[in-house]
Amino acid sequence: MTEKAFHENIKRILISEAEIKAKIKEAGEQISQDYKEKPLLLVSILNGAFVFMADLCRAISIPCEIAFLCAKSYYNETVSSGTVEIVMDLKQDISQYHVLIIEDIIDTGRTLHDILQLLKARNPLSLNVITLLDKPDRRVIDLKPNRSLFTIPDIFVIGYGLDCGEIYRNLPYIAEYDSKETI
Ligand code: IMP
Ligand code: MG
Repeated sequence: MTEKAFHENIKRILISEAEIKAKIKEAGEQISQDYKEKPLLLVSILNGAFVFMADLCRAISIPCEIAFLCAKSYYNETVSSGTVEIVMDLKQDISQYHVLIIEDIIDTGRTLHDILQLLKARNPLSLNVITLLDKPDRRVIDLKPNRSLFTIPDIFVIGYGLDCGEIYRNLPYIAEYDSKETI
């Protein structure tokens, strides 16, 4: 992609760096209270949630461990729940941890549904979800995160870890993607 097309596809900033930072500070403080004196494992879903994880873990002031899970889901239009392929699994036995899943966005809910099933079967002490963005209008599976920092309408967004064709993850804000200018 040319640099010109890269910039032209960024339609408008939806959520600024400052807005994200303020919400993360608040969430970090709440998590630090909720998990006080508990063995906490933050599990970030790759690739999208890597930026959110990096900022959120630094807003948490209690001891915690971090881990990464890379999953790919395969679905077709007639099957409402498919299979999730674990591209990179967790290294630790999670039965001794309170697990908090760090997700970038919940869209149809399918990916997270499958990941929750998978991790539940490993008997963590507790299992909760925090997502940066929630697109409830697109939900196919009835699933609510325990905490969502921003609820957004049914538009395609990029930046702050979220991609379009693996590009745009490095934008420091969340923007609406303008598909008119594709290469
Ligand atoms: P779900 O299984 O439909 O909930 O899909 C969630 C995944 O789809 C997210 O983890 C993202 O990788 C991707 N996704 C959904 N909506 C967007 C978007 O607006 N921008 C970028 N990625 C998205
Ligand atoms: Mg993702």
